[in-house]
Amino acid sequence: KTRKLPADYVPQQLVQPDVPLVFQGDNLPYNKMRVEAAEALEQMFTEAKREGLQLVARSGYRSYETQVAVFKRNEQKHGAEKANQYSARPGESEHQTGLVMDVTCPTVNNELVVAFEDTDEGKWLQQYAADFGFIIRYPEGKEDITGYQYEPWHLRYVGPDAAQVIMSQNLTLEEYIL
Ligand code: DAL
Ligand code: ZN
Repeated sequence: KTRKLPADYVPQQLVQPDVPLVFQGDNLPYNKMRVEAAEALEQMFTEAKREGLQLVARSGYRSYETQVAVFKRNEQKHGAEKANQYSARPGESEHQTGLVMDVTCPTVNNELVVAFEDTDEGKWLQQYAADFGFIIRYPEGKEDITGYQYEPWHLRYVGPDAAQVIMSQNLTLEEYIL
């Protein structure tokens, strides 16, 4: 919330990772990620599958304009203050970086819900996502620091070195940067 992206920022090299998708189709912007994040996501999904888990990717890149519409809809439903606890204002969503994928699994009907943390897939991510360079960006109990509710599904690519430190020491990206 304190480090906005410009409205015209669009990441370079957005590609669709070759992983199971909730919303299937070729070349859909919201399935895409920056290439280094997409490759790491593919490796992570491959390893999870090898261990019998069924990760599914639901929501990746979102443009500034898309976030305008998303936030407006949430604001109409819940008011701006409540909406901003779970939905970023335009320019403040990490999804605009192309370094994020919201992931889920069939046990929770491929939805983005807190119950995902109790699934085998959710628990596996908590343990192993950092090995592939991802962090659970909005952890439980850190709402005052991140500014957002707990989101066990929102994975942010930061690279393996930072991810290891952040996840093993129960930090947020904000704390790590400081
Ligand atoms: N749900 C996260 C905070 C976003 O809207 O980017
Ligand atoms: Zn997200």
